[in-house]
Amino acid sequence: MTSTSYSMQERFAAAKQALEQCDQLHLLAYYEALLPADRQHLLAQMESVDWQELGRLVESHVRQRPELKLPDRIDPAPCYPWPASPDLREKYRHARQLGEDLLRAGKVAAFTVAGGQGTRLGWNGPKGTFPATPIRKLPLFGCFAEYIRKAQQKYSCVIPWYVMTSPVNDAQTRHYLQENAYFGLDAGNVVVFPQGMMPALDLVSGKVLMESPSSIALSPNGHGGSLKALYTQGAVADMKNRGIEHISYVQVDNPSVRVVDPLFIGLHALDKAQMSSKMLPKAFPKEKLGNFCIVDGRMTVIEYSDLPDELAEQRLANGELRFRAGSIAIHVLRTDFVESLNTRAGGFALPYHRAEKKVPYLDLDTGQVVKPQNPNAVKLETFVFDALPFCTASIILQTDRIDEFAPIKNADGIDSPSTSRALQIERAARWLEARGVKVPRSEEGGVDAILEISPLTAIEPGDLADVKLPEQIERRASVLF
Ligand code: UTP
Repeated sequence: MTSTSYSMQERFAAAKQALEQCDQLHLLAYYEALLPADRQHLLAQMESVDWQELGRLVESHVRQRPELKLPDRIDPAPCYPWPASPDLREKYRHARQLGEDLLRAGKVAAFTVAGGQGTRLGWNGPKGTFPATPIRKLPLFGCFAEYIRKAQQKYSCVIPWYVMTSPVNDAQTRHYLQENAYFGLDAGNVVVFPQGMMPALDLVSGKVLMESPSSIALSPNGHGGSLKALYTQGAVADMKNRGIEHISYVQVDNPSVRVVDPLFIGLHALDKAQMSSKMLPKAFPKEKLGNFCIVDGRMTVIEYSDLPDELAEQRLANGELRFRAGSIAIHVLRTDFVESLNTRAGGFALPYHRAEKKVPYLDLDTGQVVKPQNPNAVKLETFVFDALPFCTASIILQTDRIDEFAPIKNADGIDSPSTSRALQIERAARWLEARGVKVPRSEEGGVDAILEISPLTAIEPGDLADVKLPEQIERRASVLF
């Protein structure tokens, strides 16, 4: 039902009926007392939820726990190694060439998922606005935009940038990008669109929580929501108009990611893959990364917590973990694959994953907002990697931790701004050392200087060949290239 074609009474009646059927009628408790604009708001929220599906999810994910059905047979997924083994060097050369040709021909888009709430980091604002780099404190969005500018210049092409937000941070993100003049990109080539939302559910009763008398407690429906939102929000249609064949998918929290990587795109295209992934070899068996596996002939990610210990700990004769490929949320997807998912007969649905979270809520008895100290709610999210089993072809390329993985997730400790900064400095040092620059290091091997290489200067070590570099860096110096 669209909000324009029906009267308020009809919309109210439809909402009431849907809510009654799944035992969520309490959401209308304050309706009669609301102002017309607030009624509109609440009804619009209700119309955005699939209540039948929600009813089923309350049963399967709150009243019960989703059953973990591990397949009888799980094999490790094959991966393209990095660096290339001698037998693959020629294929990598060819793939890189193909990736560059696809970029030059304007067939590749960059896509950043930035709809998450970033609660662990606790930054006041969209995570993309977080100052990430060691010297300039360039925000994450700036890192991606500068990367795209450099790639556009290298390959004389346009790389449109799609940014997925959520209704929680959409307006702030748009305003921020505009205020910063899209970090030098052409505004016409930056497309911002919001993902869908899911209601938060009371941990015990499964009742949908309200955040105010006129608002349901909604949160973004997970990065898996990008696969629907790309289609429903018109991004796929826009891509088709522009002739985009491949979508380079990255998360907003990794300033070191190769926003578009010709080798990765080329291998994916050469092997006619529909959705491909990058992996890091896990540092230890239960590292908190999803495991790339083959199940029933299909690429599948099994979460670290779900992979049985005996499999996680298996080793090959050379000592390597048998299940070593960890997922770091870097993908390439064919545009027509995303379209085909959304136009399948009967639709497509990714499984929901449950997470227990602290969600402030309106206590309907007292009319007060409660800020819980302990998790009180179930949030339901879908994950983008759950689309992999829909692929008939999918490749994985290994990458290097220091080169490409400096995530900012937590306020401190692991995967925090300070670990990310140290990784960015180490990478800059390696790139400079590869060009013969002497970089000061401590006895333990750490870099004893603050270094930052702007993506506008170099997005790979080879780009430094055109840059005048010093012979050495002074100890404790702060140097921006
Ligand atoms: P995370 O899983 O780290 O979640 O997202 P988060 O919401 O950013 O952070 P926490 O868990 O609240 O601390 C990984 C990537 O997926 C995006 C995030 O923006 C980030 O780029 N994401 C996550 C979405 O785009 N939508 C979502 O619903 C969830």
